[in-house]
Amino acid sequence: MRIIVGVNDSVIITDENVYDAHTKKFRNRNVIVLKPGEEYKVQETVDSIIEQLIAFKADRKTILIGAGGGTITDITGYVASVYMRGIQFGFVPTTLLAMADASIGGKNGVNVGVFKNMIGTVRQPQFILHDMAFLNTLPQNEWENGFAEIIKHACIKDAVMFKELEENSIKKYQKSKKGICDLVQRNVILKTKVVQRDEFEKGERRLLNFGHTLGHALENQYELSHGQAISIGMTYAALISEKLVGFKEANRVTDLLLQFDLPTFAEFHRKKVFDVLAMDKKKEKQNINYVLLEKVGKGIIKSVPLKQVENLISEI
Ligand SMILES: NC(=O)c1ccc[n+]([C@@H]2O[C@H](COP(=O)([O-])OP(=O)(O)OC[C@H]3O[C@@H](n4cnc5c(N)ncnc54)[C@H](O)[C@@H]3O)[C@@H](O)[C@H]2O)c1
Repeated sequence: MRIIVGVNDSVIITDENVYDAHTKKFRNRNVIVLKPGEEYKVQETVDSIIEQLIAFKADRKTILIGAGGGTITDITGYVASVYMRGIQFGFVPTTLLAMADASIGGKNGVNVGVFKNMIGTVRQPQFILHDMAFLNTLPQNEWENGFAEIIKHACIKDAVMFKELEENSIKKYQKSKKGICDLVQRNVILKTKVVQRDEFEKGERRLLNFGHTLGHALENQYELSHGQAISIGMTYAALISEKLVGFKEANRVTDLLLQFDLPTFAEFHRKKVFDVLAMDKKKEKQNINYVLLEKVGKGIIKSVPLKQVENLISEI
């Protein structure tokens, strides 16, 4: 962890890649610079940030700002929710994934071993500032990851966006400032509306977990990026949808994922993955609330016995 001491009261949390690529933007600020990567999204990092906040003499008036990808915004929101029983916070998302998805909705937290987001809270940021200039330094594989969540939104809620994506490519969006701004805005509005209607995930918000049940079970066991993991998760969920609810467009979903350089099918150790799946937060007794597709643009939630999910995945 690197510490930079500034002149005002807010404290920015970021990671080394973002800080090194955009050092000027952090001038005169208090900054806590974390090591990059999902492996640091753990309680130990939270504890070290809290120790540093105490060293900064941060109090209840301090505003915490998470400037980074989803790893940073998830950690920042969590630290701000528990430090002194809760201080204000805001986000400056710097990856496509965080701009279009992770910074929105107030879910925060950290992983415990292979279990994703096992601890955390739901608490909304005071602001989210989109500075699209951050995308100028985003590595190609992080563009791909961002499109995984964008394709997820299209699958569950927006057939028109799905079609637009089919007619485009990462290259085209990278070349068109307006194209990428409009796309991010469309995703922000889509997710915000869902969260406003169902902040605490009693119903509709569950749709946003499309691809995440299997995806989360794979992500930390196989060191996949979040985008890659949910891309595989969406592929399997689309095929399960064909078997359980008569979905007819699984090929369209996998073709679109491949078009955006995302993985679809994967070899994995069934038992190890099913053991993690059994701890999924969407499980209720022996059933799991699986997000399926009725058609492109229309996600539904179906309670499916865990055993049946395992059998269906094994058959694919
Ligand atoms: N809270 C939510 O609702 C929600 C939703 C989706 C995903 N998530 C979480 O988000 C995380 C994934 O987010 P992510 O893909 O943004 O990961 P990330 O924060 O790990 O960023 C990915 C990589 O990009 C680098 N990076 C970030 N911005 C950059 C920039 N502008 N220029 C150069 N490099 C940059 C980072 O240093 C890192 O190496 C996962 O932990 C996932 O669980 C949370």
